[in-house]
Formats: sequence, structure tokens, C-alpha cells
Amino acid sequence: MMSTFLYGAATSAHKVEGYNIHNDWWAWEKAGLSVVESGAAADHYNRFAEDFALAKGLGHNAHRLSLEWSRLELAPGKWNQAAFDHYREVLQELKRQELVSFVTLHHFTNPVWLAKRGGWQDKKTPALFARYAKKVAQELGELVDFWVTINEPMVYATQSYWRAKWPPQQRSVVALNKVVRNLALGHRQAYAAIHDTIPEAQVGLAKHLIAYVPEHRNQFGDRLVTSVQDWWFNHRFLALTRGAHDFIGVNFYFTVQKRVRLIPWQISDVPWTGPTSDLGWPLRAEGLTQVLLHLKRYGLPIYITENGLADAKDTRRADFIRDHLRAVETAQKQGVNIRGYFHWSLLDNFEWADGFDPRFGLIEVDYETQQRTPRPSAYVYKAIIEQAQTL
Ligand code: BGC
Repeated sequence: MMSTFLYGAATSAHKVEGYNIHNDWWAWEKAGLSVVESGAAADHYNRFAEDFALAKGLGHNAHRLSLEWSRLELAPGKWNQAAFDHYREVLQELKRQELVSFVTLHHFTNPVWLAKRGGWQDKKTPALFARYAKKVAQELGELVDFWVTINEPMVYATQSYWRAKWPPQQRSVVALNKVVRNLALGHRQAYAAIHDTIPEAQVGLAKHLIAYVPEHRNQFGDRLVTSVQDWWFNHRFLALTRGAHDFIGVNFYFTVQKRVRLIPWQISDVPWTGPTSDLGWPLRAEGLTQVLLHLKRYGLPIYITENGLADAKDTRRADFIRDHLRAVETAQKQGVNIRGYFHWSLLDNFEWADGFDPRFGLIEVDYETQQRTPRPSAYVYKAIIEQAQTL
């Protein structure tokens, strides 16, 4: 039987809920280290029902969100029943709206108590994460359709332990390597813990994939550096977690061209001269086809768990969605099993270290009034979905 292709949008707890006061990002913001504080964010914690109704009205049949670990586990082993009740309502609302749920367990934020004991550098963290995953499976499992254990492990690890941009702002190869290994272990153990509770669960992770291309295909150096980078950033984590995926989630944003110069020796990224988003990120849909074709080797179903752009004026989003869905189709025609697409994001939100300026939402949020207004591109997406469903 052909399953229905899923179309939806994604969010993540700290970026939209507001007042996630028990996590390391909140602490970091309060210490004055971020450009702006997340505060009430998009107040999604209180407005989730309105937001899901909007998504439904925009033609979506699925939705991706994340649970906030720091709300659910206030101290090691100290579970917060009120938070479980809240997320039960959230997931029941998705069912009422007939939106298939993709539930992420870790999207960049950590409970402060976990961060204090070393976060993902601590070798006990994978087991603590798996215990949290198991608890969620026991409490809410019957309401979850798809599980995403960890969002973008390599982005989290590099931003926090190599580029020093996100808490805890470290720059150490040793820490980076430890964190990557612990995230992989955390995923494997959470995968097992969820399956222990719900044997038929669909569990994966959201992998940020970059389309690396050599500046000159006929230059060995460019090609070599491109494949090493591709292996290290795109495929190593999937190798470390091999056997623990029921599907692969793909977050796609970037194409990066690699260049090698011999004299003087230099490896660099070629400056992008094509169209960009408000954040200066390259807009190149062919990159999505490339990364999808590279995933064929794993033989697993694929969901695009994120793909989007900052575009406050909404002048590029409609074309962006069209182009990227075409890129998905091109990969499908070449035999890649892709079953869903989630645009990033449903709502404007707190864009981590970049604050509230970048506007990623299909729906505009006025942060003064919390008024929601779907952007014109949201209706273009709706028309595309409706058309696809009549085929
Ligand atoms: C992250 C999101 C983020 C988006 C846009 C992804 O890497 O998962 O949290 O908002 O990129 O920056």
C-alpha cells in the first residue's frame, strides 16, 4: 500500500514556547551572553491549539515539534507530572487536528542540572537521555507517530564545542569528539529504550546535511577535501549510529563549495555569489537532491525534517518551497524513498544566537501582540499540497 506523503512544518520547544527557564540556553541568555533573551518567544506553550488549527487550515497533514527535557525532568529522576500533562494535551490536539506527529526529544537545549554535570561531555549523559526517552515513551508513547531522538547532533556539537557560538561556548577538539561520541551513544540507547517500550515505534534522528561540492571537479585536491568533509560532517554520525534508525530525518539548508590551494597551502570555502536568504545563506535546491541521492546507500525511508529560509519580506519563500519540492521529486525519480517534507518553520521564532530578527515562519508572528498572520507563501505551499493530493 502506498502511504500518504506527509507535508507539514516544524518547530522546536525553546524557540517558540516561551519561558523555558530550566535549560542551559535560558541561563546563558540571563547571563547576558546572547544578543537577546527568548522570553515569551512565540507563546506557543499557551497557543499551541491555535497554531495547530492554523497548520491544518494551511493544508498540512503532519507536524514536527520538540519536547523540552528541562520541563519534564526537573532534577535527575524528578519527573514533572504537570509538564507531561501539558504535552499530553499538545499531542492530543495534534490527533484531533489529524496531524501526524514527529516528536523530537532533544533540540539543542539541556536541563541546567545536566549542563552542570558536564552536559554531553559527561559519559553518564547518554544513559540519562535514554532514561528520559523511556519515560516519555511510557507516558506519551501512544500519542507519538514518529520519534526524532536528537536534532542535528553535528551542528549542536560544532556550534557548542568547536565554534564556541552556543553554550557552553567551548573550542576544543577533545571536547568536540567526546560530545559527538556521547550523542551517538545517546541516540543508540534512546532508540533501544523507545523500542523496549513500543516495539513497533518509528525512531530516527534529524541529520543536518550539507551539499559539499568541489570548486573544480577536475582538481584532485578539491575533490578529496570535499569527500573528507562530506564524510566527517554528513556521514560519520550515521555510521556511528548504524542499525539504530527506522528512517532518516534530513535537515537541509546549505551548499558549500570547497577549494584547495597548494601554494600557499589553504583549504577554504568558495564565497557564494548566487541568491541568498536574509541570513546570507545560499539558496540552491539542487543541493537537496544531492544529499538525498547520497542517502540511498542506507536503504531507509527518508523524511525531510527541516528545510527553510529567513525571508522577512516573503519574496523568496514560495519559489524556495517549489524548487525544493521539485528537488525532492528528482531524487524520488532516481529511486530515493522520501516520504515527507517539513518546512522550517511553522512560526517565526527565536533563532538561537541570532535572536528574533531572522523570520523563518510560514506564519508571521507579531511579538508585541502575539498575533499570527500566515504569509502569502503559506498559501502557495497549501496549493502545492492540495494539488499533490489530487494526483
Ligand atoms: C535548526 C533550527 C534552526 C534552523 C535555522 C536548524 O539548523 O535545527 O533550530 O532554527 O536550522 O537556523
